[in-house]
Amino acid sequence: MSSAQLYDTIGATYTVTRRTEPRIAAQVWAALGDARTVLNVGAGTGSYEPPDRDVTAVEPSAVMRAQRPAGAAQCVAATAESLPFEDQSFDAAMAFATLHHWQDPIAGLREMRRVARRVVVFTHDTSDTVWRRRFWLSRDYLPEVAGLLAGRPSLTGLASAIGARTEPVLIPWDCADGFFEAYWRRPEAYLDDHVRRGVSLWARVGPEPEQRAVRSLRADLASGRWAERHRDLLALDAAELGLRLLIA
Ligand SMILES: C[S@@+](CC[C@H](N)C(=O)[O-])C[C@H]1O[C@@H](n2cnc3c(N)ncnc32)[C@H](O)[C@@H]1O
Repeated sequence: MSSAQLYDTIGATYTVTRRTEPRIAAQVWAALGDARTVLNVGAGTGSYEPPDRDVTAVEPSAVMRAQRPAGAAQCVAATAESLPFEDQSFDAAMAFATLHHWQDPIAGLREMRRVARRVVVFTHDTSDTVWRRRFWLSRDYLPEVAGLLAGRPSLTGLASAIGARTEPVLIPWDCADGFFEAYWRRPEAYLDDHVRRGVSLWARVGPEPEQRAVRSLRADLASGRWAERHRDLLALDAAELGLRLLIA
């Protein structure tokens, strides 16, 4: 199943938990610099589209396109790997939390580079050791996540494909956008079906690992084991979990 088909299957309730996190949006919009025309690739329901610029969106899933709010930017049905625009059509191209779904991320980044003078991408550091250690949920409860990364390009490989620099993105403890890492200091949230349905990774690992992870986390929360092991996290307002902006 392609990722666009995946979102046609699981995307219908996306906006229940997924929305713009203003502090991360501010970092993305600063990286766009003075760009006036912006292409948003893998745009989904329109989160993170800057309200003060001329935005065009690209989104392959019909279910996601249908949930864009009235008045949202014009949205074209296409994929990152084959953008239907002339060279240098936009001041900037952005992509948020979508690159890990692309069949060929390097081709998609090169396409963004081709159609825009500036590229800003929010993604994560997929190097195996960093991924395994960085987040208690994947490390201690859902090790299957590592298998999803097999064969995916490293952050360094992605950056060098378009000559990008990387910038860390810290995740606030009360992050408004419910992506996988968003609830790092609110572990009970992962017991909630609605929270998990807003993150494709749970669908991709499958129901058995999902149910095992939930059971195990629920038990550790009830026994106090989670709190004991992660007392240090409760003192943090933001966490470094390997999320990055690529800026070229
Ligand atoms: C997690 S959602 C992110 C949506 C939006 N950027 C946001 O921040 O809410 C990932 C999106 O990537 C889209 N997608 C999947 N494969 C894609 C591809 N090859 N090119 C562009 N977008 C793709 C999916 O349809 C989905 O809407």
